[in-house]
Amino acid sequence: MIFIPKTVRCILTLLTLFIAIRFAPFSVTGFHICESEAPKLGGVLPICKSKDKSHHLICFGGIGEEWSFGLRSKYLRILTLCEWPDINFDPETLLRNFPSLKSLSLFNGSITNILRPFPIEAQNVEKLVIIGTRLRHLSDGILRNLSALQILDLRYNSFSEINPENFNSTSLQTVYLFGNPWKCRREMAWILESGMDYLSNKIIDKADLRCSVPYEGRPLIPVVEIIVVLGDECQRTVCECQLAYVYGRVDRLIQKQLKAFVSVNCSNRGLTEMPSFLPANTTVLQLSENKITDLSPLATNAVYRFVQDLYLDHNLVESISLLDGTHWLENFRLLNLRNNKLTDLPTYALEHALPQNINSARLYLGHNPWRCDCLFTPGFQDFLIRYANLVKDINDIRCSAVEADEIANKQIRELTRTEICISPEEDYWLLPLDVLNATLAFLIFLVLGKLLYDYLCFKRTGKLPWIVTKIP
Ligand SMILES: *[C@@H]1O[C@H](CO)[C@@H](O)[C@H](O)[C@H]1NC(C)=O
Ligand SMILES: *[C@@H]1O[C@H](CO)[C@@H](O)[C@H](O)[C@H]1NC(C)=O
Ligand SMILES: *[C@@H]1O[C@H](CO)[C@@H](O)[C@H](O)[C@H]1NC(C)=O
Ligand SMILES: *[C@@H]1O[C@H](CO)[C@@H](O)[C@H](O)[C@H]1NC(C)=O
Ligand SMILES: *[C@@H]1O[C@H](CO)[C@@H](O)[C@H](O)[C@H]1NC(C)=O
Ligand SMILES: *[C@@H]1O[C@H](CO)[C@@H](O)[C@H](O)[C@H]1NC(C)=O
Repeated sequence: MIFIPKTVRCILTLLTLFIAIRFAPFSVTGFHICESEAPKLGGVLPICKSKDKSHHLICFGGIGEEWSFGLRSKYLRILTLCEWPDINFDPETLLRNFPSLKSLSLFNGSITNILRPFPIEAQNVEKLVIIGTRLRHLSDGILRNLSALQILDLRYNSFSEINPENFNSTSLQTVYLFGNPWKCRREMAWILESGMDYLSNKIIDKADLRCSVPYEGRPLIPVVEIIVVLGDECQRTVCECQLAYVYGRVDRLIQKQLKAFVSVNCSNRGLTEMPSFLPANTTVLQLSENKITDLSPLATNAVYRFVQDLYLDHNLVESISLLDGTHWLENFRLLNLRNNKLTDLPTYALEHALPQNINSARLYLGHNPWRCDCLFTPGFQDFLIRYANLVKDINDIRCSAVEADEIANKQIRELTRTEICISPEEDYWLLPLDVLNATLAFLIFLVLGKLLYDYLCFKRTGKLPWIVTKIP
């Protein structure tokens, strides 16, 4: 006997274990049979081989007529079909000829559709394996005649949903569903039920299942859990709720760190105030086309703390002054206030909050009846120019239609100071500065005139001006 030190044996065991675990999802049982027994290139399909004293038949590209009848098929125990060439698969015509069959496997191939239920002749089948096909639907009751079925392996197909009733048979204990593009929706909620009596309990690999779009690659169970909770919370609102995005590492151990981003649509619901309850993790909130006037919940109600995108267009908001200094103003990502009743803004509050905002906020302020006067507008104009990249609809920010004719509906960005600060009706000459201007100009001319007069006098008479004689 060869002596192997204990440590080496230990390492070898660990290595085997590692390889087994690492490659487990890929080494699908039986897959290798199709590869190892594959016919040489150029063979005419379908082609079949029998193994294990003719108890096991492996066929490529369909099944030949010669195998469908007679004594050989009567005692066949295991049937492996590699690369089934047709999109349809009809168990009834096929299995009628194999009454002793215990195991049926279909690997790869074009199957998208199982035409008819499994026939009563398939009642001895204990293991059904369909792997690597394009199958995406199992009709209800299609497996009902498989009264001895124990193992159902449906890995790597195109299932996006499945009716768990298909697993409701007392003999069936083990189901594999990994590698399918599951649609994570509320309809999948059955898989969350745990307990001996539940069908979900038969799915051995349920913790490994993954969602397809829009939650590509996220673990199915926690995502469906989030969706179910969201659905319940949404019932308490008048809105539509949607799990927009799930952020998180795909790693199985980190499942608990998933982060949900919920989008809630309460547009056009006749709301007169902002909802006092929102589903947890709401990040996008649509409140367009309501009759909301008051934004104070943003400052006071904690459910708005994580709302990043707020659509309030087509409402009756008159002021956002109470957002001054709030957590919300420093953290929002998008605020849409188009078509409201805003006449002015606390620009100092925004100028304080926006540089702190890590989300590089976007603002929409167009189509409001903005006040255009010398008090508010110059500061607002400065603000618009300084934050032109954040204010997305700057061309729609115009003076209200009730302003003086010259500036009504004019773009605020384009206004000149004179347009804002000097009203044309006032008498130009009576303005104090201009009076001073004129007086000073008059005095300058007076001094220059006197100088000229004194000079001419001196030249003609030699008399010095009176003032010069007085200077010592
Ligand atoms: C089945 O398909 C998979 C994926 O397309 C491929 O990796 C595998 O080699 C195929 N197996 C056989 C036996 O053709
Ligand atoms: C069971 O098999 C019989 C005979 O093949 C078939 O007519 C019937 O539709 C099957 N039953 C179900 C529930 O699929
Ligand atoms: C399974 O089927 C039986 C009857 O066929 C039914 O009474 C039972 O409710 C089903 N179980 C589940 C979990 O649906
Ligand atoms: C939802 O938000 C709460 C806090 O409001 C947080 O504790 C929880 O982890 C979030 N859930 C997800 C799935 O992001
Ligand atoms: C929100 O709901 C309204 C009315 O139900 C609908 O018209 C609108 O398209 C929805 N908006 C989004 C972004 O889904
Ligand atoms: C004073 O008058 C001059 C000449 O008319 C003009 O150029 C200037 O702008 C005026 N200054 C003020 C302050 O009005």
